[in-house]
Amino acid sequence: MSAIETGAADGRPEVVRTVAELRARVGHWRRSGERVAMVPTMGALHDGHLSLVRIGYERADRVVVSIFVNPTQFGPNEDFKTYPRSEARDLELLELLGTDLVFAPLVGEMYPPDFSTKVVTGGAAVGLETDFRPHFFEGVATVVTKLLNACGPDVAVFGEKDYQQLCVVRQIVRDLGMPVEIVGAPTVREKDGLAMSSRNAYLDPRERSRAPVLHQVLRDVAESARTGGPVERAIDRAQTRLGAVGFGKIDYIEVRDAATLGPPGNGPQRVLAAAWLGRTRLIDNCAV
Ligand code: PAJ
Repeated sequence: MSAIETGAADGRPEVVRTVAELRARVGHWRRSGERVAMVPTMGALHDGHLSLVRIGYERADRVVVSIFVNPTQFGPNEDFKTYPRSEARDLELLELLGTDLVFAPLVGEMYPPDFSTKVVTGGAAVGLETDFRPHFFEGVATVVTKLLNACGPDVAVFGEKDYQQLCVVRQIVRDLGMPVEIVGAPTVREKDGLAMSSRNAYLDPRERSRAPVLHQVLRDVAESARTGGPVERAIDRAQTRLGAVGFGKIDYIEVRDAATLGPPGNGPQRVLAAAWLGRTRLIDNCAV
């Protein structure tokens, strides 16, 4: 379908702000036999997000990107208000990829005043991020459930950058029997290894130059776990090195089972970490 037929005469992706419009567009495509992929985001798009859109087009005929800074996944003292918002630029980037549709609802569309249901998480959501951001996965699970229900895609793409989130999304889709395939996408990194993130914009130049050490130490821990070395000692070394280059509090560095995020067993494993650099909290992870 051409841009003109979708109503976006300037070649920009069409933007809809209501669930009803989203359903109408996607319903039309699916009735004509087209496969639809969804890429949920909070905007401030970078190459990591764009890689998910490309993967969406490998898996489907149409890609819908949602842009919604979801208030329920931010804690009271977190950065909801200051989270970077750049819709015009996001739309320019999405246009370059030929994105079919952008769903960018206002908060009231997703959470009307009488909104009162929550998706309670367990399993993959236990520990790690939840120990430090107790509201986070309930907020993510609730909004992702709403977004997938609203769009009804065949497939939805999530980044391994937020590895626990990917596992939690797989868990809720499984547990609630949602008819969608979840695809995990590899982490896109800057040249120096830092995982791309909208929050990297908070780093000052000095912090930015040190930030890639997080990825380096995760690789060391992964290597140690892979070769059967003493993982505790590797984690100690990692913490010391992070401290030495100026990281502050280290929320966690842990090796977990890559599928369940339970304690590591005989299957594939993953190293996950969260640490503060100045006022910025960075997360990253790495396959063993
Ligand atoms: P956001 O942080 O905007 O990320 C949107 C998607 O992009 C997520 O699936 C995330 O894992 C992926 N992503 C971010 N950085 C990436 C990178 N460097 N490489 C590959 N993928 C990357 O995650 C969220 O938004 C929200 O929690 C959301 C799922 C939209 C629910 O509100």
